[in-house]
Amino acid sequence: MKKLMNKYISEVDDALTKAVTTSNLGTNLEESMTYSLTAGGKRIRPVLLLLTLDMLTNNYKLGLAPALSIEMIHTYSLIHDDLPAMDNDDYRRGKLTNHKVYGEWKAILAGDALLTKAFEVISNDETLSDSAKIKLIKRLSIASGHLGMVGGQTLDMQSENTKIDVTTLEQIHRAKTGALISFSVMAAVDIAESSENVSQSLSDFSDHIGLMFQIKDDLLDVYGDEQKLGKSVGSDIENDKSTYVSLLGLEGAEQKLQYHTDAAYQCLAQLPNNYDTSSLKYIIELFINRES
Ligand code: IPE
Ligand code: IPE
Ligand code: MG
Ligand code: MG
Ligand code: MG
Repeated sequence: MKKLMNKYISEVDDALTKAVTTSNLGTNLEESMTYSLTAGGKRIRPVLLLLTLDMLTNNYKLGLAPALSIEMIHTYSLIHDDLPAMDNDDYRRGKLTNHKVYGEWKAILAGDALLTKAFEVISNDETLSDSAKIKLIKRLSIASGHLGMVGGQTLDMQSENTKIDVTTLEQIHRAKTGALISFSVMAAVDIAESSENVSQSLSDFSDHIGLMFQIKDDLLDVYGDEQKLGKSVGSDIENDKSTYVSLLGLEGAEQKLQYHTDAAYQCLAQLPNNYDTSSLKYIIELFINRES
């Protein structure tokens, strides 16, 4: 599985390096976009999309454009998340954050440009049908905007220095992080034109692994290794963030992680047995055990 994942990662990395061509405007905006895009992210979202599509169709190639797009939007979300006005972090993906290198206004604009580039990439793809592209663009815009990631980031910021309940915290995590992870799985469902039953099981699966991913992120912010993570730990405490750890303690957060892990396995068990779910099981294991 590691080998297959590495193959996808290297295809995605290759394409991302070439994706942002220089304009003739005489700025270094593209350099700033590429700096964050190629800084060494785990590429978990594109890989998840390609693995899901491979499971459903045995043909991951049709997923390359949305895979690049989701990584561009994710990277933009990180550039903005790290800004002084938000989490105010200095390190990301083992390097200085975008605004530390290029300054705040250019980091904001690099994020804006990556967001819009994502939609350009899907629109320009030559392998997907027009109707598949429209479906993907619709799904991606909902997952990224006020109903998804941006909405979640807003509620996350609004919940600093305040006491919220677990239901609200779950809403934050589902929106700020779960929405983009769900997109990765459901984009594959769109391309494969899967049945209603398969779509429902995978939608539930994506919801559980999305929550798993952010719960683990909250835990790693407490007990993770900065070197391995490539970002500073302790940022959540410093910003008085509402996280699974601040609300439920380490043990409570671990229990929630386990709950969503079990639920994710159950969703996979509902899929027709001609699907080889080993790669998605591997993703569950990765999400629970990851150190970076
Ligand atoms: C970090 O995402 C932000 C969250 C949504 C928790 P990743 O842990 O996937 O970051 P990279 O892409 O590997 O840098
Ligand atoms: C960020 O959550 C989620 C998004 C960027 C949408 P965090 O603020 O916890 O992510 P890290 O810990 O900085 O990577
Ligand atoms: Mg944040
Ligand atoms: Mg942050
Ligand atoms: Mg975090």
